Amino acid sequence: MASRVIALDGPAGSGKSTTARVVAEKLGFGHIDSGALYRALTLAALDANLPDQADRIVGLARTLPVRLALTGVGYRPEVAGVDVSAAIRETRVTERVSAVAALPPVREWVNAELRGAAAEHPAGVVIDGRDIGTVVFPEATVKIFLTASGEERARRRSREVELDASEAGVRRVRAELDRRDTADSTRAVAPLSAAPDAIVLDGTSLSFLEQVDAVVRLARKTIGSHA
Ligand code: CDP
Repeated sequence: MASRVIALDGPAGSGKSTTARVVAEKLGFGHIDSGALYRALTLAALDANLPDQADRIVGLARTLPVRLALTGVGYRPEVAGVDVSAAIRETRVTERVSAVAALPPVREWVNAELRGAAAEHPAGVVIDGRDIGTVVFPEATVKIFLTASGEERARRRSREVELDASEAGVRRVRAELDRRDTADSTRAVAPLSAAPDAIVLDGTSLSFLEQVDAVVRLARKTIGSHA
């Protein structure tokens, strides 16, 4: 694995990816958004009309291929060499991704890709997801479980995707986040949960920059003591 791995897990809309990105920049690390790989795989499966067939989805991922390509700080999701950063945020992908991510062969393939991508980075990586500290990198240098109230997460996600930020709009986003959190937390394989040795950080009353600073401080404290 990369010399240092910072695992940032948590539910949808907690701001994991945006936080992980800025933390990685501050530390001189790479940033891997593991959800982007599940989304890219789901996009490829939808386009090939294979949404529920695990073995064929994994075969497709290998042949196309679906991958994360290191580009500067981040790793860009690609399908057959095409950047799919925007397409993976489409509603049809968001609606299907938790079902695809619940398939064990899909998870094994993604985990191997994540480990390979992390190993490629010379300094270290910040990886955000649902099972990074519990399953993918149980030996991670730092594990943080980032959470926030359902209401706050729905507000953040509404602003992020520039959707209708009215009360009704936020309620709709919240229902979607709740549906995905329930699916991700109750699945049989690698459910969303904090590792026993993770530091739980509740960002409900923190600004984005305060949240970033809190993660950087925790990371530096542990990295410093490992140096
Ligand atoms: O950014 P958002 O919170 O919307 O979710 P994401 O990080 O893009 O992840 C999309 C979906 O991928 C999640 O709802 C999970 O079903 C799945 N996922 C997972 O199972 N394990 C991970 N390590 C990351 C994502």
